Amino acid sequence: MDKWTIQDAEALYRINAWGNGYFHISEQGEVEVRLKDKSPDSSVSLLSIAKGLQMRGMKLPVLLRFSNILDDRIQHINESFLQAIADVGYQGTYRGVYPIKVNQQQQVVEEICKYGKQYHHGLETGSKAELIIALAHIDDPQAYVICNGYKDEEYIDLALRGLSLGIQTVLVVEMPGEVGIILERSKALGIKPNIGLRMKPSTVASGHWTDSGGDRSVFGLNTTQVIEVVDRLRNESMLDCLILLHYHLGSQIPTIHDIRVGATEAARVYAGLIHEGAPMGLLDIGGGLAIDYDGTHSDSSNSRNYSTKEYCDDVVEEIMNICKEEKITHPTILSESGRALVTYYSVLLMNVLDTNTFRYAPDASSFEQSESLPALENLLYVRTMLNEKNAQECLNDLNYYREEIRNKFLYGKVNIRERAAAEHVYWEIVAEIQEKYGIVNAAEFRKLEHQLSDIYYANFSLFQSLPDVWAIDQLFPIMPIHMLDVRPDRKAVLSDITCDSEGKIDRFIGDRETEDTLALHTPPEDDDYILGVFLVGAYQETLGDLHNLLGDTNVATVTFENGSFSLHNELEGDTVADVLSYVEYEPKRLEGMIRAKAEKAVEEGRITPLERRKIISAYTAGMRGYTYYETDQEE
Ligand SMILES: Cc1ncc(COP(=O)(O)O)c(C=O)c1O
Repeated sequence: MDKWTIQDAEALYRINAWGNGYFHISEQGEVEVRLKDKSPDSSVSLLSIAKGLQMRGMKLPVLLRFSNILDDRIQHINESFLQAIADVGYQGTYRGVYPIKVNQQQQVVEEICKYGKQYHHGLETGSKAELIIALAHIDDPQAYVICNGYKDEEYIDLALRGLSLGIQTVLVVEMPGEVGIILERSKALGIKPNIGLRMKPSTVASGHWTDSGGDRSVFGLNTTQVIEVVDRLRNESMLDCLILLHYHLGSQIPTIHDIRVGATEAARVYAGLIHEGAPMGLLDIGGGLAIDYDGTHSDSSNSRNYSTKEYCDDVVEEIMNICKEEKITHPTILSESGRALVTYYSVLLMNVLDTNTFRYAPDASSFEQSESLPALENLLYVRTMLNEKNAQECLNDLNYYREEIRNKFLYGKVNIRERAAAEHVYWEIVAEIQEKYGIVNAAEFRKLEHQLSDIYYANFSLFQSLPDVWAIDQLFPIMPIHMLDVRPDRKAVLSDITCDSEGKIDRFIGDRETEDTLALHTPPEDDDYILGVFLVGAYQETLGDLHNLLGDTNVATVTFENGSFSLHNELEGDTVADVLSYVEYEPKRLEGMIRAKAEKAVEEGRITPLERRKIISAYTAGMRGYTYYETDQEE
């Protein structure tokens, strides 16, 4: 076998394809994080961060947030648009607005407002709660706060009052009925609103999250409704408040073609509104700028077939062309990119707790005598017949005979020891087939590779930390963050620690487009084996739930520079008491119930008072503990 190199590991996990320059493998075989244009010495190993946090008492799993990466993304998107504008001599400018729903965490919004201020980066809100966040954080009269979503009087009043504070809120009409309330509230408060319209694009983009386009999309106005709203505003002498057109084709749009067509349609509607007499000025192209999660740079739903530069160039050019034809002034272009801003920002680190191997029974000595068991005769006969040509036939026979033994077990004709021996022999022969003939018959035996793969139990909850893997089969890059100078010797699927069979990951990025298994190492005996799940900054934290009452993980916000990192903010994950209170238990009351139960046991002489004390202290310590698997119990 050839010597294993770092380049082999890079190719296996395709880190250079999806890492976008932020993640790479060091000569020491560890994943390092860095900023694209900085020298390799500025890189920091994720393992050193994990170990550093562990030494400070922060346990795995932990979500790392890299503020430098967030800043880099804000800069990248803004400068890409500004460059595209400069390149073609576009007369308008660009203003980004970050949709809070993509990652509402306070640190994220604060950083975007702080670092994004130089670009007048604003916020997009979809609810009252998000608007309340936005009003407190935006401190820049040139940044916009785009108010989308279903709006009641209170939402509208808040946005109008924001205008009095000098915050550029724009109330985007999503449903025809909203116009009446906006007009009524603005009259009542004596504040003239900035009004926007959300159009329903007829373009339906490809991809997972694209129901926002087309006639049946739930939000937005069709052209008939757009004209009705314009007429209403004109009749109320409020058409001068109409300054923005918004559309959103969907999130993670894989093809540039759809983006171009969407921009063209919107620019035509925008021009139509100007011709109708609205002042306009702002064209908001929504979100959708995709991330290349699988590193294929293709039009698959986990990727995108364009770069950020191409996206910006095409949008600007498309709008400019239509403006030229329609003889109208170039609008300020707004975009509501969320995913493109925050995806690279977070990495989930989790330790492997245990493995379950199918290929070899852990202690085969239990089955040494199995060759002589009559129940196994047929299975063993298959082994003697096996050759390259009949491998598939032998596999079929093996499945048949194993089924037969399982049926006999049901009818009491095979005992538990015989059945266990049969299962052991079955897997041994299947492994032999796969090893000897799997490469020759790669396509036929691909399924076998999956069947024979190990299960690695990792310390996380899919439902809490990676809900999109469960909900829509989203692919995230996953790989060990160390030992990458050693050839991985196992193939595995991952299981989380919820007791739910859905809590598994069995689709991975590999050297083929997607793989059913992930190449991993046999975990070291005396140390953690740590896996990283990358590109999890968008949507995952906000959509996660409390399945099995596994709560928020620990979070560490770090910046890295010149080969070292500094910890800026640490958030302890949920304790057991926290998650219990989320589902309406009162930890104190539960403690009281246990105290009473233990007291009764003392009264009845089943335990001593000292034992009662120990039981109660174990119970209260459990209440204070992390909801995930804890390896080092503090005394
Ligand atoms: C109205 C609106 N704007 C912006 C976004 C963010 O999209 P993305 O994360 O793809 O940039 C969404 C999400 O789907 C949205 O619904």
